[in-house]
Amino acid sequence: MALNVTEIRKDFPIFLRKIRDGKRLVYLDNGATSQKPQVVIDAEIDFYRLNNAAAHRGAHQLAEEATELFESARQSVAEFLGAKAEEIVFTKGATESLNLLAYSFSNAEPGSRFFIGPEHTIVVSEMEHHANLIPWQQLAKRSGAELKWFGITPDGRIDLSNIEDLITDKTKIVAITQQSNVLGTINNLDLIISKAHAVGAIVIVDACQSVPHLAVDVRKLGADFLTFSGHKALGPTGVGVLWGSYDLLNELPPFLFGGSMIENVTMTDATWAEAPKRFEAGVPNMAQVVGLAAALKYLQGIGMDEIHEHEKKLTQYLLDGLAKIEDISIVGPLDISLRGATVSFTVDGIHPHDLGQFLDNAGIAVRTGHHCAWPLTRALGVPATTRASMYLYNDESDLDALIRGIIDAKKYFGQ
Ligand code: ALA
Repeated sequence: MALNVTEIRKDFPIFLRKIRDGKRLVYLDNGATSQKPQVVIDAEIDFYRLNNAAAHRGAHQLAEEATELFESARQSVAEFLGAKAEEIVFTKGATESLNLLAYSFSNAEPGSRFFIGPEHTIVVSEMEHHANLIPWQQLAKRSGAELKWFGITPDGRIDLSNIEDLITDKTKIVAITQQSNVLGTINNLDLIISKAHAVGAIVIVDACQSVPHLAVDVRKLGADFLTFSGHKALGPTGVGVLWGSYDLLNELPPFLFGGSMIENVTMTDATWAEAPKRFEAGVPNMAQVVGLAAALKYLQGIGMDEIHEHEKKLTQYLLDGLAKIEDISIVGPLDISLRGATVSFTVDGIHPHDLGQFLDNAGIAVRTGHHCAWPLTRALGVPATTRASMYLYNDESDLDALIRGIIDAKKYFGQ
């Protein structure tokens, strides 16, 4: 069923405000962060108003309530991903999840399946954003392992032509994005995952741009670890999810040490709790976790398949509209079946930062620059791009405004 965007927008208080001297807000920067529905804001506020206490600590009613809310949020996230509750680790965001994994690998002893040394390789792709590149670069430096990567095809897909050379018996980790934050490409990871597993490598999926927009079932996907950030999925900032297949998660050494993640402590040593607690040191981000559960419930209420279909329609509309403007180059696939609702482009003769500023004056929020994926921008041979990224509360009127804004910018800049 088609989404009723007019009704959906009413759930998001930010759309009541005006921008740049009374203009309607056209928010097309969802790849960076999403707006929040009132139910998410309320869930966070209510936690502080009514239930605030330190989960898993304290012998009082509030502590019990906080624990119950925190753990039932874990259950909600698990259901959203088709996972088990004990496979869900709450982090501060996807960046922390990926660093957690990279440091946990560093903490593994020789002989452990996670141990990584100079004899190993780590494989990523050229379309990773920095959060799924730099932690692996650093792990390669710490361990002496070699970092290798898939290139991209001219139409912005992962180039699988040399997969046999990249994923070999030496490969320990394959860390790969499910959907590019710049190109919009949705990667079919089946071949990469099966090839990686065939050589005994561990597959880590960066699902920051996919989980908020399409139904992702971790069992069907078949990877070993997956992460996303709450704030791109209508949830609060400061909360992310790391999913791990339980056997692996429960064997992985911890990264952050402190309260809650222990089993027993003496003055000179400690042993670790089972997963997921082992990875949640300190008093957790309870209000944010509760807000995230409310966000995922809201998304489920609308329907992930319906959201994906809506975004496909919008993407086609935008691609058609941009195709009618001269001097625009879209980076990423033009085939709608290969991509999500993130469209990056350049306009000959107008620097993306100038275009972004011009659009902002018209109340249109886009992102410009390298989008935290600098090596990809270099590979594309452009200094920067302008990116429009859509979500469930966008409609054709937003895209008409963007297209009109680009045409006006071209006139303004004399193109
Ligand atoms: N990775 C985020 C983006 O694409 C910040 O904008």
